Amino acid sequence: MAETDLLRAAPAAGLPRLLEGAWSDHSADLQAHLRKYGPPPVDVSRQALIEVVERSGLSGRGGAGFPTGRKLRSVADAAGGPAVVVANGMEGEPASSKDRFLLTRVPHLVLDGIALAARAVGADRAYLCVHRGEPEYTAWLRDLVGHRRRARIDRLEVEIVELPRRYVASEQSSLVRFIDGGPAVPTFGPRPHERGVRGRPTLVNNVETLAHLALIARHGDRWFRTVGAPHAPGSMLMTITGAVHRPGVYEVPMGLPIGQAILAAGGPAERLKAVLSGGYFGTWMAAEVAWNVRLTHADMRRAGAFLGAGVLIVLPDSACVLGETARVVRYLSEETAGQCGPCVFGLPALADALGELAFTGGRSRAIQQVGRQIDLVDQRGACRHPDGVAALVRSAMEVFADDAYEHDRFGPCEGLRRRPVLPLPPLHEREEARK
Ligand SMILES: Cc1cc2nc3c(=O)[nH]c(=O)nc-3n(C[C@H](O)[C@H](O)[C@H](O)COP(=O)(O)O)c2cc1C
Ligand code: SF4
Repeated sequence: MAETDLLRAAPAAGLPRLLEGAWSDHSADLQAHLRKYGPPPVDVSRQALIEVVERSGLSGRGGAGFPTGRKLRSVADAAGGPAVVVANGMEGEPASSKDRFLLTRVPHLVLDGIALAARAVGADRAYLCVHRGEPEYTAWLRDLVGHRRRARIDRLEVEIVELPRRYVASEQSSLVRFIDGGPAVPTFGPRPHERGVRGRPTLVNNVETLAHLALIARHGDRWFRTVGAPHAPGSMLMTITGAVHRPGVYEVPMGLPIGQAILAAGGPAERLKAVLSGGYFGTWMAAEVAWNVRLTHADMRRAGAFLGAGVLIVLPDSACVLGETARVVRYLSEETAGQCGPCVFGLPALADALGELAFTGGRSRAIQQVGRQIDLVDQRGACRHPDGVAALVRSAMEVFADDAYEHDRFGPCEGLRRRPVLPLPPLHEREEARK
């Protein structure tokens, strides 16, 4: 199939899937959901459920792309008491809106996914984690959960857990630690699937992954594979933002070239310079290089890029990659748990060095300084936070080496005058989360 045909062919192969009906006024209504999908098939055997997910090739949509069937099996097989399911609906990535969109528009698919995952791993507890500070939203989610219990759809009560709005709070071990009564910061021990909540084997999955699971359990693995690439089946939700005509959340087939995804979002709104893929642990690509790269973990890795949780931020030619990156790195340096050296000392120093290059420059010394600071944080933390920041800065410095040289020799560029493109949470929210 020619690349340009993929997008047009995709709807014929059954897209949208997760978002089918997402625009209906009744999308969150339980009876409407049951009329459309029927109840989740929780009476299927645990083995059969795990096997159909394994055969489907579903991979996690929370960032790392870990095979979901393998995770289900390892939790189901682990010793240590009945398992626990944790649905990650935190969406810590400031540029991403797909999980919130899914949870508000088709919440019952996510809740079906939680019920089915709990059945597969033999869980007796389930949690749905979201950010703190939106009482109406969490009350609405609790209502939905209560409604399902009263209608006897769910055997297990799903507890809605509210965590602080901090970048590292949504990492899986932070969720486990918080549910156990501790602070929402990463831990360094065994992985949750071995020892999670209350020391029990714990399945942590992104809410989009669970919604796919809910459809696979109903329609089967072959159905799932009719969309996407053979090595990366299915569809994924992408948040496409920046210099496009219609920023928003899109459901695209895995393997779609980035250029086609940008066209689906209305096409470039200005001449393009760069694409940041994967969010703020992601990587910059020059726009012309990004255009033909396919949206799978393997294809992105081969291109030196990161698919992550499905974020594409399109930067126009008039913007400054270094200034944009420096703002984000400052934000990320303030979002750590402050537990390890690279975060306490390294990230602020990296933010300083990049800030000097981006906003001052002209002294021919900042490039070296940035390089030194990257080496001092990369792979030295207890969690992936410093590595993610290092990868982001390294990609900016490599792909836009000419811009870095110009800044370092002659000072900042005109791009700094325009309004920043990369979104950050408002200051008051960040301060609130630190209390
Ligand atoms: C700093 C950090 C932040 C993360 N934030 C999220 C998040 O907001 N949502 C999410 O689903 N996964 C997030 N993850 C990944 C989770 O730790 C975990 O791998 C994921 O929820 C597993 O779900 P999946 O297998 O369905 O992808 C984050 C990881 C790191 C290192
Ligand atoms: S590396 Fe940073 S974010 Fe990760 S555990 Fe250590 S201090 Fe926390």
